[in-house]
Formats: sequence, structure tokens, C-alpha cells
Amino acid sequence: MSYVLFNDQITKREHVNIDMEDRGYNFGDGIYEVIPIYEGNTFAMEEHLQRFLESASKLEIKLPYDKTVLEQQLNELKIKNKVINGIIYIQMTRGVSPRAHLYERNVEGLITGFCREMAFPTEQKLAGVSVLLTEDIRWLRCDIKSINLLGNIMAKRKATDNDCHEAIMHRNGILTEGSSSNLFIVKGKQLQTHPPTNLILNGITRQIVIKLAKENGFTVNEEAFSMQQLLEADEAFITSTTQEITPITKIIGDINATFPVGTITKELQHAFKAFIDKETK
Ligand code: PDD
Repeated sequence: MSYVLFNDQITKREHVNIDMEDRGYNFGDGIYEVIPIYEGNTFAMEEHLQRFLESASKLEIKLPYDKTVLEQQLNELKIKNKVINGIIYIQMTRGVSPRAHLYERNVEGLITGFCREMAFPTEQKLAGVSVLLTEDIRWLRCDIKSINLLGNIMAKRKATDNDCHEAIMHRNGILTEGSSSNLFIVKGKQLQTHPPTNLILNGITRQIVIKLAKENGFTVNEEAFSMQQLLEADEAFITSTTQEITPITKIIGDINATFPVGTITKELQHAFKAFIDKETK
């Protein structure tokens, strides 16, 4: 991780100084994205940058330079760090100002980014993972990809403490998403996942899976579902940039259930892999 992005400069990490009154540091006042790299090529960069702009606009933070410049900088960052398979992390905070809750509208944000090698989870994709079902204690704007992730990290800690890979969450018995992933169930030839409301992050992987599922003859119901429906599902899986499509084989916590690594999940994994290969050629 030797080169990083700091505002509009690519520089050595040790040359970066973050001010202790950066609003990201004081308030968690900022946004981020995680963009995957496969075989030296970024995947779904446009979709991630678009969501970055949407998060910025919802929080009234202004990009300090054009999106095309940002895209060039991120590609440059990838090349300078010689990353082949991994991720680009980019964040933008509302910048530095004397600590006060009230923010000025549309001030230029402070951008930082890094790029690193990361192994995508082959074993978990094959064998599936255990998840902990727990209450969703987060705020009501989960559609914003905010760097303030306290509810998410608390859920993840609890999951790990219970020997689970991920936490999936519910609000009064209605399933929302994972601590860092979206959640799908499969029943017959139908997929179901929470609609893209304020209660979940509309994952880029989620959107691609929905598109691929429809192309492959499945129906997709973007309607919230209950714990009972989860119990009655044939298959369940989570999706995210770093976890791709990962089958759920066991649920503990607020309900107990087991699932096979299902045939439809496997079919979608193959379609997803083929789509990545096509897009990153
Ligand atoms: N997390 N929901 C939440 C709460 C997330 O944090 C993420 C991703 C997703 C899936 O979004 P996408 O498919 O666009 O990656 C859903 C990233 C990977 C992270 O925080 O590291």
C-alpha cells in the first residue's frame, strides 16, 4: 500500500497528514466506496463512482474535482501499486473545520484512497458460511454509503464472537441486509431481496445479481421478507464486492436454520464469474 490518493495527488502514504479536526475523524462525516480489481482491471467502476456521487449529494458534500479525473486517479493508483487482484478503497469526508455539529453546505470534500491486494474468498464461495441473525440497530439512512459504520461493526463483532462469518440483520422480524453485504433468499425459481429503500445499501453486486438472475430465467422479487420466509427458503446467500456471491449454510441467533449450497446459487455464481471475465477482458 505504498502509494495513496490524497485530494488530487498520488503520493507515498507516509507523506499524508490527516488533520485531527477532519469531520470524518470527529463525526464520521463522510462517504466511501470499495471497487474490485480482477487481473489488473477494475470492475463496475462506473457504478461505484455513480453511487459515490449519489452518497455525496445526499450528504451535500461536493466533489473537489470532476468524476473523470477521479476515475483517472484511481486507475493510476492501481497501476502505481501494481495491484492485480484486490480492491480500491476511496473515501471523501467533509474536510477540516473547527469542531461544530452544523456543517456548511456543499463545501469541497477531502478525498483519500488506497489500493491493495486482496484474495477473493474461494473456499467460502464453495462451502458456504454461517451467519448470525441479529437485530438491525443502525440508523435510517442505510442507503448512504457513510463511513460511520458503528451499527455494522458491532454486528460483525457479535457474529465473529459467535463463530459466524457475517451478521444478517432484521428490523422487527423483517430481514434487511448483512453487516457488509446484501441478503437474498431463493424459493423455487424465485429470488427475493429487500427493496432498495433507506433501510439497505443498494449493493452494486446486488444489482448485478438481479440483472443476471433475470437474464437466466429467474424471477426476482424486490420485496421485504420475514424470518418465517427465511426459514422456508430453499437457499440463501449474501452478496458484496469483496464476498461476491457467498452461500449461507447455517443461521444461528434469532432463528436457527440450515441450507445446502444450492443449485441456483451455484448457477448465479457461474453467471457472475462469466460477467466479470467479460467486463474485465
Ligand atoms: N460493503 N450492504 C452493506 C451494509 C455494505 O457495507 C456492503 C458493501 C454491501 C454490498 O455492496 P456492494 O455490492 O456494492 O459491495 C451491502 C463493502 C464491501 C465494505 O464495506 O467493505
